[in-house]
Amino acid sequence: MVASTTVPDPTMQPLAHARRTAAWLLAAPSRVLVAAVSALVLVLAGAVLFAWSGVYNVAASTGHFRVVDHFLRFGMENSVRARAPSTSLPPGIDESLVRLGAGHFHAGCAYCHGSPGTPISPVAASMLPPPPVLTERVGRWSDGELFWIVKHGLKYAGMPGFPSLHRDDEIWAVIAFLRRLPSLDVFRRASLTP
Ligand code: HEC
Repeated sequence: MVASTTVPDPTMQPLAHARRTAAWLLAAPSRVLVAAVSALVLVLAGAVLFAWSGVYNVAASTGHFRVVDHFLRFGMENSVRARAPSTSLPPGIDESLVRLGAGHFHAGCAYCHGSPGTPISPVAASMLPPPPVLTERVGRWSDGELFWIVKHGLKYAGMPGFPSLHRDDEIWAVIAFLRRLPSLDVFRRASLTP
C-alpha cells in the first residue's frame, strides 16, 4: 500500500501568505498605522522623485496621451457637476440681458473660443487643452453648470474665472448669450454686439 502524501497547491500559497500578513497586521492596530504611513511616505517620495527627475514632459505642443485626455475630461466634468448650482435661467429671457452677455462674450471669450464670424485665434488653438468651439458644447451643460464654469474657470486648462466674482448678474447675462449662441449666424451675432 502506497502512503498518501499531501502535495501543497502552489496557487494557494500567495493567498495563504496574504491571509497571514493581514492577520499579523490586524493583530495590532499600530502595525496598520505604521504600514499606512510607510506606504504614504513611499508614494510621496516616488512623486517627488518623479517631479525632480524631469522625466515628465510639460510641452503643450506634444499634447496628452488619449487616455490622459479622457481621464482629465472625466474629472473635470464630475468636479463641475458636483459643485454647480441647480439654478436655471428664468424662462423668456430679456433681450437686453442677451445683448449684455454678447458684449462680454465678444470682449472676453471670443478670442479663445471664437464665435460666428470670428475663428479661434491660432495662438489660443495651440493651448493644451485647446479651447473648444462653444456652439458644439453648450448643449451638454445645464444652466447652473455653465454658470459655475464661467464664474470659476477651469484649473490647469487656461480657462479663466470671471474677473468680477461678485457680479452674478453679469455672469447670467453671459449664460443667456451662450444659450442663444448655437442658433446664431455671423449677421445675427453682429446685430447683438455694438
Ligand atoms: C484664454 C483662453 C480662454 C478664455 C479667454 C475663455 N476660455 Fe473658456 N475655455 C478655455 C479652455 C482652454 C477650455 C477647455 C477646458 C477643458 O477642456 O478642460 C475652456 C472651456 C470652456 C467651457 C467648457 C466647454 C467644454 O465643454 O469643454 C465653457 C462653457 C467656456 N470655456 C466658456 C467661456 C466663456 C463664456 C468665456 C468668457 C467669459 C471663456 N470661456 C473665456 C479657454 C478660454
